[in-house]
Amino acid sequence: MVKIAPSILNGNMSDIASTIAILDKAEADWVHLDVMDGVFVPNITFGPKTIADIRPLTKTFFDAHLMVHDPNVLLEEFVKAGADMITVHYESPGCAHLDRVIQRIHGLGVKAGVALNPATPDSVLDYVLDSIDMALVMSVNPGFGGQKFIPHSLRKIESIANTAAKRGLKLEIEVDGGVKITNAAEVINAGATVLVAGTAVVAAPDPVQAVKDLKGCAK
Ligand code: DX5
Ligand code: ZN
Repeated sequence: MVKIAPSILNGNMSDIASTIAILDKAEADWVHLDVMDGVFVPNITFGPKTIADIRPLTKTFFDAHLMVHDPNVLLEEFVKAGADMITVHYESPGCAHLDRVIQRIHGLGVKAGVALNPATPDSVLDYVLDSIDMALVMSVNPGFGGQKFIPHSLRKIESIANTAAKRGLKLEIEVDGGVKITNAAEVINAGATVLVAGTAVVAAPDPVQAVKDLKGCAK
């Protein structure tokens, strides 16, 4: 069963509470939280304070995707705010010691993920794959919702899924960017276990139906 993780980024940022209520109604599996610092990516979103403020509104798993120059400085704050999983970018300058960052996240008592930009090969995960809970395949260049899915992402998803299967790992493979009803089946068949859906759910005319339809693609 594939999980659907809608991103609140595509909703009205002055009314995140309504977006959360809609996602609860739609029975979205996770809430995807896109944290951007205007340095690592050309956009700025929100930080731990916003996450802490919306934490009491839902019991749903909080999946924090940190698109920031140096995640280290705020890891503790994100955990205190209520993130259940923290995903950092392999390409972040602050992840030069990626293995240590992963250990720090686990030491804070939450799950750890590593995200790869579209141009980054999955081979860089070789020595960390066994110690992470999730690999996040960016299927657009990070920074904005509403972009077009990059087709070569499918090959990367397949490659990670094969390696995880060979090693007998219980690894979530999350795909983020441009996922919608027209490509969700391919993405799932390639090996994705979690679909981020911004535009396809939060900006859909009927988000409840949109989550249902995306889940239906797993059959
Ligand atoms: C992009 C973000 C995504 C994005 C998804 O940098 O990480 O989570 O908001 O939005 P869609 O589904 O519209 O591509
Ligand atoms: Zn994201």
